[in-house]
Amino acid sequence: MKVWIIGADGMLGSALMQSCLRKEIDVTGTSRQEANIIQFDVLSAMAAQIRPTHIVNCAAYTDVDGAEKEPELALAVNAEGAANAARVARDCGARLIHISTDYVFNGDGTQAYVEEDLCAPTNQYGQSKWEGEKRVLGLLADACIVRTSWLFGTKGKNFISSLMNWFQQQEELQVVFDQRGKPTYRHDLAAAILTLLDASGIIHFANDGERSRYQIALDLMEASKERGIQLRCQRIIPIPSSKFPTPAVRPSYSVLNTNKYFHLTNIKPRPWGEVLNDYLSHYASSA
Ligand SMILES: NC(=O)c1ccc[n+]([C@@H]2O[C@H](COP(=O)([O-])OP(=O)(O)OC[C@H]3O[C@@H](n4cnc5c(N)ncnc54)[C@H](OP(=O)(O)O)[C@@H]3O)[C@@H](O)[C@H]2O)c1
Repeated sequence: MKVWIIGADGMLGSALMQSCLRKEIDVTGTSRQEANIIQFDVLSAMAAQIRPTHIVNCAAYTDVDGAEKEPELALAVNAEGAANAARVARDCGARLIHISTDYVFNGDGTQAYVEEDLCAPTNQYGQSKWEGEKRVLGLLADACIVRTSWLFGTKGKNFISSLMNWFQQQEELQVVFDQRGKPTYRHDLAAAILTLLDASGIIHFANDGERSRYQIALDLMEASKERGIQLRCQRIIPIPSSKFPTPAVRPSYSVLNTNKYFHLTNIKPRPWGEVLNDYLSHYASSA
């Protein structure tokens, strides 16, 4: 087995590199500079060098608000780039694991989304990721698409690391209470991907525990205080999304149902409380 991680410097890609190395899996990771997913010829030449049996595409345009301003670039990376990865995988006979998002759903649901639910993205990022899914499956019917949600970790920009920064800077913080999802620890997703290397079709993976952004902030503050982490913030105020307008409309409910993952692997995603503790241990040791 030879794994090629495209987008290996990102929040997920770097966690997956670590997981592969820990498990002594033969792995090569490439950054945007080394293999730009938009450039098919570059990708193809890299594949000829690496000769992967498995390609994991962690590369993406992930700036959700930025995608409203530059939708063509989001589409180029997330749809055309994904298609390039599928073509290269097809040409070299490798399996492809492509990562997608809960933002393919419109968030009008009230029950956790299953893999077959209708996609209807509310923003350009979600639209570009959905296009990517369709392009990948159109080119490579046995590809695996892993949809995840609200990824976080000590590396990279994410909601939880932003909260930690705001907690240090502000005495009072307003956080929206009407967006619900499942936070997913990047190391847990990396471990899940390694269990899905030979799977096909769309599979949801997220940690267990549905939370609003407001509840996440409360949990994070309480757990940080229990660990003796000094915070300037003393009060978190719940606000509706209408009071915090952003360029991209976020789905209000983007909870992923992970039963299919459990049935395939017999592994239960870890609960939110447990991964929050792991995150804070990393946070404390890297501070
Ligand atoms: N973050 C979340 O909350 C979240 C939620 C659901 C799903 N996802 C999905 O999970 C996957 C991993 O996301 P992440 O959070 O790890 O994102 P990330 O930290 O932004 O990493 C994405 C990586 O892709 C690279 N990249 C961007 N454009 C590229 C290109 N044209 N060619 C090659 N590489 C390129 C970036 O490199 P540069 O830094 O050099 O641009 C970066 O290293 C993505 O598919 C994302 O859509 C993320």
